[in-house]
Amino acid sequence: MTSNDNERSTTDDRCRIITTVADIRTITDSARAGGESVGFVPTMGYLHDGHASLIRAAREANDLVVASIFVNPLQFAPDEDLDAYPKDLDRDRYIATEAGVDVLFVPPVEEMYPHGAVLTSVSVAELSAKWDGETRPTHFTGVATVVSKLFNIIGSCSAYFGEKDFQQLAIIRRAVADLSMPVNVVGCPIVREPDGLAMSSRNIYLSPEDRVAAVVLSRALAAGADAVQAGTSDPTEVEAAMTEVFSAEPRARLDYAAVVDPESLDRPERLGTTTQLLVAAYLGSTRLIDNRTVKVF
Ligand code: PAJ
Repeated sequence: MTSNDNERSTTDDRCRIITTVADIRTITDSARAGGESVGFVPTMGYLHDGHASLIRAAREANDLVVASIFVNPLQFAPDEDLDAYPKDLDRDRYIATEAGVDVLFVPPVEEMYPHGAVLTSVSVAELSAKWDGETRPTHFTGVATVVSKLFNIIGSCSAYFGEKDFQQLAIIRRAVADLSMPVNVVGCPIVREPDGLAMSSRNIYLSPEDRVAAVVLSRALAAGADAVQAGTSDPTEVEAAMTEVFSAEPRARLDYAAVVDPESLDRPERLGTTTQLLVAAYLGSTRLIDNRTVKVF
């Protein structure tokens, strides 16, 4: 055992792993009963620094910090990577503990879906159908359903989500508002690799060549931001600037490069003071997304 391993096992002792709904409810209920605030970070595991940044934000603002790790079958289509989704609970526990988590909620599928089929779902209609919803028609209903379920389990809390998944964040904010869930949704900035690629659990699927080429997403967003800053008010010009960057990278297959309104996610006629850029592209069979907010004063 190296000194590092020693440090690792000592640190791991601090974070509890809970697997049942009843036990996590007891923990969060008694924290609130004692006047403590609860910060909650839902994840699918295989944690990286993007996830850790959410845990750190929750740690700074709350007394009890809970993160969940649950690879939610509802949000994967039959042809998607559910079974192959990367897992490493030991490493996750270490990263989460280092970032300041108190409790990890890691329920088995039978605990979350005891009846097997799920008859009740949360669907945030129009917001879920566009952009990523066009390629993944059942995805966001799966996300909104499991997140609502997790909110019902954890109870009143502040919940931390990455702006990396911009459409997901907009959908969750809307579900919380529409259904009056007792949750304060906090959006946190995108954490990037040094070359600009947004961190994602899926980046490990990229071949070395595709990993290099994947920087095209953030470069396209930078070109879009430059076009906005240059003073255009025409969304089509901004989209053209982003698309041009993709045309120069033959390894990437562009899905969309769009200018949207940050709340409705519709394309605006003219640009306002805040412009939201969204991109999605395939590198090999891996689909990557990224986005950037551009403010003009
Ligand atoms: P997952 O992909 O594990 O992401 C968990 C959280 O980490 C999400 O809020 C996501 O936006 C955030 N995140 C991922 N990469 C990030 C980055 N580079 N910078 C900042 N935040 C980042 O998103 C999901 O899981 C699931 O859909 C979930 C919400 C847990 C429901 O199953």
